[in-house]
Amino acid sequence: MTDHIYWKNGSLYLLDQRELPFKKTYVRCTTVRDVTAAINNMTVRGAPLLGIVAAYGVVLGVMEKKKAKRTVRGSDIAGITRVLGRTRPTAVNLFWALKRMTDAFERYEGDKDIAEDMLGEAIAIHVEDIENNRMLSLYGAELIGDGDTIMTHCNAGALATGGYGTALGVIRAAHESGKRIKVFSTETRPYMQGSRLTVWELMEEGINVELVPENHAGLLFSRGFVNKVIVGADRIALNGDTANKVGTFMIALAASEYKVPFFVAAPVSTFDRSIGDGTFIDIEERSAREVKYLDDRLLTVRNAKARYYAFDITPSRYVTNFITEKGIIEKPFKKYIKMLF
Ligand code: MRU
Repeated sequence: MTDHIYWKNGSLYLLDQRELPFKKTYVRCTTVRDVTAAINNMTVRGAPLLGIVAAYGVVLGVMEKKKAKRTVRGSDIAGITRVLGRTRPTAVNLFWALKRMTDAFERYEGDKDIAEDMLGEAIAIHVEDIENNRMLSLYGAELIGDGDTIMTHCNAGALATGGYGTALGVIRAAHESGKRIKVFSTETRPYMQGSRLTVWELMEEGINVELVPENHAGLLFSRGFVNKVIVGADRIALNGDTANKVGTFMIALAASEYKVPFFVAAPVSTFDRSIGDGTFIDIEERSAREVKYLDDRLLTVRNAKARYYAFDITPSRYVTNFITEKGIIEKPFKKYIKMLF
């Protein structure tokens, strides 16, 4: 499944993830403003995909300047990346991709085909992400046994990346190699990435999946119904502390209690070598409206107070291994994460 993001005739088309699995509609982006809106309103989500979308956003920004008959300068790129960087703060892939686009601009500055050059870089980021997912999935599949039952949280599938997926990529690769696997997908309140996206993706692949509320983790582990957990990540500090969808930490705690291995699958672009540990990770706080309403339906007292942190930090001691395109990362994580770079 690779048709959830594509470039055609100077426009970026994004499959609207807010409508899945009920409708397949696309949002067309032709400006930086369209792209920032698509990121902010969750048309697209998932750390690696946010990076790719932001990269194409920079291309649209360059095209806008060219249309206005302006010579594109470094200050324009700084302005465009600043706007795109103000969307979602936790996923480091977004900032990683913006930096890569800025570096590309510095290489190509002054070239008359600058928009084409920048598009080439965005496409490279996109294609490399798919390749990295396939590679890390092959490594990760080695950790999966025939007959395993795996819990995953949120959506770390093709939809959250350029294609193929990270946590779901590992599951997919194990399934493709003939292993019989069962997956428990958590609902993932309040956007319901699990119910709407993960269940849909896995069913499309013919993988045995069952939906559970995330508050079932402790019970399922205590009954021996799950023997592995695999999740994706939005940002991983040098010591291995991991930001991922809120609720991941609770699942990791319960997994640790019942000695269920807890794996984090992510490309190297998700590791942030500039921060020593998870206390430095900026946690996005989204509107309380997203907790109080399901679409337009109010779920609580109208003037109730509510709070929604979109991510939490799982301390690295709860992570068994990281799965990357460069291989499986063992403990001590700090030593081996440094070697990734
Ligand atoms: O708020 P979202 O849907 O962007 O959060 C996504 C997650 O937390 C994913 O688990 C993470 O980005 C890994 S995606 C390969």
